[in-house]
Amino acid sequence: MPQTMSELTGPVFGRDAVGPLDHDLTQQHDAEPLGERIIVTGRVLDEDGRPIRHTLVELWQANAAGRYAHAIDRHDAPLDPNFSGCGRALTDEEGRYRFVTIKPGAYPWTNHQNAWRPAHIHFSLFGDAFLTRLVTQMYFPGDPLLPFDPVLNGIPDDAARERLVSTFDWDTTMPEHALGYRFDMVLRGRNATPWEK
Ligand SMILES: [Fe+2]
Repeated sequence: MPQTMSELTGPVFGRDAVGPLDHDLTQQHDAEPLGERIIVTGRVLDEDGRPIRHTLVELWQANAAGRYAHAIDRHDAPLDPNFSGCGRALTDEEGRYRFVTIKPGAYPWTNHQNAWRPAHIHFSLFGDAFLTRLVTQMYFPGDPLLPFDPVLNGIPDDAARERLVSTFDWDTTMPEHALGYRFDMVLRGRNATPWEK
């Protein structure tokens, strides 16, 4: 179908939209949050594998105990006064983003008997047009809950599900500081990162 300007255009975010510590969820309060510090990085690409530059990437997540700093989260796990769980970053010239955060904990939900969400990080991206909008979730390799999660397994295609699982990455891992995970996101096309609200 022919596409119109309302689909081929989108919001533009200047440098001043993102503060210097917005990408570092471990530095947003007086002290560091509890939990395992991690680095999450990757590239945002279009359907032809080209980098999407200067695009806004936002994430939100539970703390190390599996609790969101949100009014409707009633999980019986402690809040962390030093962790809000929200971050934002702009991609660079190569479409790369980078966050420093802590590994989120698994948390229970009431979907079915003894239901637990695997550890995950929510992402929201705008891309460069309204057609490239993406809201999704990133998972961690080797998580024993992955085969049981109705949200992840709501994606019928094996390869598409795999694209939501990040990769442990030595090049991102910083000695004596933090493990690194790589998570590329593709907006639209055959290899698109699946939606997950
Ligand atoms: Fe969640």
